[in-house]
Amino acid sequence: MSKKESFVLTKKLDHVAFIMDGNGRWANLRGLPRYLGHREAMSRMREIFEICREFNIHVVSCYAFSTENWNRPQDEIDHLMDYLEEFYAKEIDYMDSIGARIQVSGDLGRIRPSTREACIAAYERTKNNDDIIVNICLNYGGRDDIVRATKAIAEEVKEGKLNVDDITEDYFADHLYTHGLPDVDLMIRTSGEQRLSNFLLWQNAYAEFVFTPVKWPDFKRDAFIDCLKEYQDRNRRYGGLKNE
Ligand code: IPE
Ligand code: IPE
Ligand code: MG
Repeated sequence: MSKKESFVLTKKLDHVAFIMDGNGRWANLRGLPRYLGHREAMSRMREIFEICREFNIHVVSCYAFSTENWNRPQDEIDHLMDYLEEFYAKEIDYMDSIGARIQVSGDLGRIRPSTREACIAAYERTKNNDDIIVNICLNYGGRDDIVRATKAIAEEVKEGKLNVDDITEDYFADHLYTHGLPDVDLMIRTSGEQRLSNFLLWQNAYAEFVFTPVKWPDFKRDAFIDCLKEYQDRNRRYGGLKNE
């Protein structure tokens, strides 16, 4: 039996979210500068999207840069943006050909113009695709997401367009960066760290968390399948007693 046939995912999995962590440590362990870990990280992306397609996972969120990552040296931030632009340049034809919509969650206002334009161009080109949705979280913070939604809703109330009683969970979710996307089913963090680091706080409310020691630049097919197997074995009870 080939590797591809050896695992069948039977549990519902519409949205997988990745905290792609460990690039710097991956590089340091090899005596390389941290930024080369970020370069290697970009080479992992295509295979990840291919596996998502194979298992009919419709939405993939990737944490590319957090609102806290501005605390890093400017040189490292510049490299990260360089590699993100390279990713768009190299992969956009392929992504479009597989029907991927590439969208961004996060405040692009503070992102340098060349990277911002690459993100917008990729979205404009792919916005009518719907076979797989790739949600790049860039200058994203879960708390920032929630505060922005709150402000937008408060404005609607102030302008008399909305009654406070009409603010529901669904209405609130429609004001987040991820509006229209399903909640996260599976959140995977690489590199052994076991925290959320301000990622999709609202959207991860009932996600299953899988933490793998594998660093993102080493996160290939087998490591991803291991995470899917762990997810498949989880009991999702949503506060009830039934196993899903
Ligand atoms: C994740 O790898 C990439 C980003 C945060 C942009 P890190 O750069 O955090 O790598 P480590 O955690 O220092 O090894
Ligand atoms: C989270 O990783 C952000 C991204 C992967 C983009 P960090 O490496 O920045 O998180 P902390 O600092 O370990 O919490
Ligand atoms: Mg890290």
